[in-house]
Amino acid sequence: MKILFFVGGISRESLNRKIFHAMAVMSPLDVEIATFPIEELPFFSQDQEKDLPSKVRELKDAVEIADGIVFITPEYNRSIPGVLKNAIDWASRPYGKNSFKGKMVAVLGASPGNVGTFGAQNHLDAILSYLEAMTMAQPETYLKVGDAFDAQGELTDPKLREILQLFWASFMTWIERHDAAGNGTHARHMGETPSAPLS
Ligand code: FNR
Repeated sequence: MKILFFVGGISRESLNRKIFHAMAVMSPLDVEIATFPIEELPFFSQDQEKDLPSKVRELKDAVEIADGIVFITPEYNRSIPGVLKNAIDWASRPYGKNSFKGKMVAVLGASPGNVGTFGAQNHLDAILSYLEAMTMAQPETYLKVGDAFDAQGELTDPKLREILQLFWASFMTWIERHDAAGNGTHARHMGETPSAPLS
């Protein structure tokens, strides 16, 4: 199973990037992990939709071959970082070629702040719902993170490890349940139906 991660924090010391590394280390054995360098995408412009930049084509391919997608988002001003929204906008276009349609997705995020990225995740849920992705509703994973990592960036907090393990197990079950029901758009079903968003 291929799981693609979008990490909304692109700084060297990003807390959310550390969460990604911790999740990669504890991933189930039959899972192949990938991430996409969203910081290498150009800024979205409709002028480039007819002839997509090569990085954008790579992005859409990565989304389309994934069996599941995990978004790990920081919270910027109670929303998602612009760099993450930029990637989502690209993958949703051009009109009728929304790569997220029917994809099994899950969202989590970490912040030193008290609401643990609730505001960002709330916005992200709305975006993904509009794009007809199938977002795992539970467990909600709003992480307020202080000293959970050592100087090498390794996860040292057992409670956080437990939360991330639960997230992994829940997401695997979410994907398998929808697979068994024949719902959702996995790699092998992609590209059949033109879809929203509207131009
Ligand atoms: C923040 N931060 C922040 N934190 C929060 O809990 N709610 C918020 O609305 C914001 N807003 C915000 C805006 C901007 C522009 C910055 C740079 C920061 C703090 C943020 O949670 C903290 O810097 C995290 O460490 C960012 O995640 P990464 O990049 O470390 O993964």
